This record gives sequence, C-alpha cells and structure tokens, in this order.
Amino acid sequence: MSANEEYIAGIDIGTTKITTLIGKVEKNNILKIKGYGISHSNGIKKGLIVDINEATKSILHSIEMAERTTKVFVDSAYIGVTGKHISFISNWCDVNINSPNNIIRKADVDRLISTANKVNLSSQYEIIHTLIKQFVIDEEKGIIDPIGLSANKLSVELLAVYGTASLINNVVNSVRAAKVEVEDMIIEALASSEAVLTPEEKESGVILLDIGGGTTDVAIYKDKKMVFTYCLPVGGDLITNDISIGLNITLPKAEEIKRKFANVDYNFYDTLNKVNIGDIKIDSNKTTLNIRLYNIVNCRVKEMLGLVKEKVEGYSFIHEVPCGLVITGGSSMLKGLAPLANSVFNLPVRLGVPYDTEGPQEVISDPIYSTGVGLLKYAYQMKNYRTLDQIGEKKEQNTFANRFKEFILKILKNESR
Ligand SMILES: Nc1ncnc2c1ncn2[C@@H]1O[C@H](COP(=O)(O)OP(=O)(O)OP(=O)(O)O)[C@@H](O)[C@H]1O
Ligand SMILES: [Mg+2]
Repeated sequence: MSANEEYIAGIDIGTTKITTLIGKVEKNNILKIKGYGISHSNGIKKGLIVDINEATKSILHSIEMAERTTKVFVDSAYIGVTGKHISFISNWCDVNINSPNNIIRKADVDRLISTANKVNLSSQYEIIHTLIKQFVIDEEKGIIDPIGLSANKLSVELLAVYGTASLINNVVNSVRAAKVEVEDMIIEALASSEAVLTPEEKESGVILLDIGGGTTDVAIYKDKKMVFTYCLPVGGDLITNDISIGLNITLPKAEEIKRKFANVDYNFYDTLNKVNIGDIKIDSNKTTLNIRLYNIVNCRVKEMLGLVKEKVEGYSFIHEVPCGLVITGGSSMLKGLAPLANSVFNLPVRLGVPYDTEGPQEVISDPIYSTGVGLLKYAYQMKNYRTLDQIGEKKEQNTFANRFKEFILKILKNESR
C-alpha cells in the first residue's frame, strides 16, 4: 500500500467481546471499514479490567485478527472506555476581549478554552473529553464560531467528561501491553452515538442507549451536542444470569434460550402457550415455562430501563427529546425490546445499527459493532488520523493540550458546517 493511504484503528473493549476495526480514509475523503477482528473478552467485567493479563490476551487476539484480514499493521489505536466511574460536569468560563475593535481572535478563543479546561477536579480523576456546548458573546447565546466577531466578553459552556484515572489507566495499560499505543480515548456512549444517530436526531433531541453485555451506556443529544452521559453497570449478561437461576439451567443454555425464545413485548404474552421453548426438560408444562421466562426477562429489562429513565428524569431531559430513544448494542436484539422501552419511557423508540458507513455488511448491520464503528467515525471527525508511514512514531499520552485541540477542531471545522 502506498505511504499516503490513511488508516485509523479502533478497539472496543467490551464485556463480552473485543473488536478491532481498521478504517481507511479513501481518496474522496470517505471513511471505509477495511476489516476487523473480534475475540471473546476475558478479564473484563462491567467495562472494567479485572485481570490485565487475560484482557491483554483477548485484545491481542482481536488486533491480530484485524491485521490478518486487512494486512495493515496496527501500532496505535483509539480505544473506547466505559464504566460507572464515567461522569460529567458542565463548566462556564469567560475572558474579556482587549483587541483593536474588540474583534475576537483565535488567540482569545485559545486563552478562554485553556482557562476553562482547568476544571477543578481531584487528581484521582482524568478528563476524557472537553466538549464545547456553546459560545456566548456579550450575553448572546448559541454562538458557533466566535472568531472574527466583535465583543467585550467571550464566554464558553463546556461539558467535561471524566473518569477515575486508575481505572482508565488499566484500560490503557492492557492495550499497551499488547504493543499498541493509545492514540486517544473515547467514551463508548459517544462512540456509539457517532455510529448510529442521525444529524437530525442529534439536533432535535434524542437519547442513545447502548445495551451491551455488562453495561448500558447512555448519551443525550440536544442542539447537535452531547449534553448528558451515564453508564449503568448492568447489561444483557444479567438477564442471562437471571434465566439461568430462574430456570435452573446452565449459563450457555440460558444464553441460547434468551436469544431464541425470550420476548419482552406484552402482546407476546398472549401467545406464550403456542411457543415452543426448545428442549429444556425441567417442566412438562411448556406454557408455565414460557410464562416464567417472560416474567424473569421482562422484570429485569423493565428494571434496567426504569433506572435509566430515573437518571434521565433527574436531569430533566426527558421532555427535551422529541426523537425519543435509539437503542443499540447486542442486547438491543432482545425481542420485544422496542415496544417495552416505548411503554416505559412513553417516547418513540427505534433500534440502531451503524448508519451511513461503508464496510463489511456483517459489521454495518449488527448493533454489536456500533461502538467500534463510532470510534473510527469520531476519530476521523477529529482529523486526528495519520498516515501509515508514521507507524512506529510514539504519540504523546493525552494531555490537556490534546483535548484542547480536540474541541477546537470539532467546533471550528465540523460543527460549523
Ligand atoms: N439475539 C439476541 N437477543 C438478546 N440478547 C442478545 C442477542 N444477541 C446478543 N445479545 C446479548 O448482547 C450482549 C452483548 O452485547 P455487546 O456485544 O454489545 O456487549 P459488549 O460490548 O461486549 O459489552 P459492554 O458494552 O456492556 O461492555 C450479551 O449480553 C448477549 O447476550
Ligand atoms: Mg459494548
């Protein structure tokens, strides 16, 4: 391949599987997924590393598989981070403009952002994203690009997303142990949103739910900006566990039953006696068994959705999302989930897979790849991609300066389009 071909690698370190996706920026500036690797996750629980050696082995396996399918050597990648330690704060900051005619220069914006970036957080936390929500000039809100405008005072509202530094380091170290440098970290809720939400949904207001195996990642968008994020440390694996305990069957059997027969739609309840639940020999009465399965799964999923709703309501966002819910992640394939979520939230619901993406059909049509695809899309948007001939070059770990670059690029190059 020629030296000016540009590649991006993303690693989604999920609780049940790890995917490494390799994208290439084609000549027409379209990002195309060239190939991927997928491995079973070991050493990861609820999005957190619990055994670094096992986690590294799983990561390595998925990287090697992606390298084999694409013939591209991965030595650095964007990685997804999640876990209940991820949180956010909104921050306001302002500077006076003293230039001739009070024209705002790039240097003023730089000064403002670097001041705003000094979010008052204890050293146990690390900032992952600092996203601009809006600029304000002389009390006039909603300014997208202030450079060149005239004002006495320039203010900015930021959303700083942060997490516990030690837990983030564990993820970074498990990737580095696989001899891959971490280009940058992206929270999984943000990555999945990038993959499945449409620009119209982000503008009008929408809630993204990525229900995976060990976590449910939530992001809310309004006026094109992420305004909220949350990670519920519970996912589809808990449902499998409930089925295993409730029906006295092994976890693999419970997983199979869940995928094949579970259905949480209330309308399905009426048809339960007609459904063949397979060959589990624990109850001669199939109707009773079906009702038990329905009750176990329905109860748990309702509880999970209820917890998310409670959190979202706590921030008063529930009335600001006309586009309702978009659900992705492996557990979005649970039958009847959309009608159940609709009744819990009283909002429209659609299921989401990676949208407007070029790549292997099995990737772009499957919700388990939403985070991986989103990592590539987000990285690409930041214009942080590099050429293959730079492989081997050590990148600096993330610093405030890098974050600063991130949101400057985002706001000035992408969001003002
Ligand atoms: N057809 C299906 N019906 C119901 N659940 C399913 C189906 N297919 C997969 N799942 C569930 O999806 C979950 C895995 O989803 P996903 O691959 O998105 O998780 P992950 O990214 O590994 O984990 P996380 O993001 O929570 O760390 C598992 O709990 C699995 O049981
Ligand atoms: Mg996931």
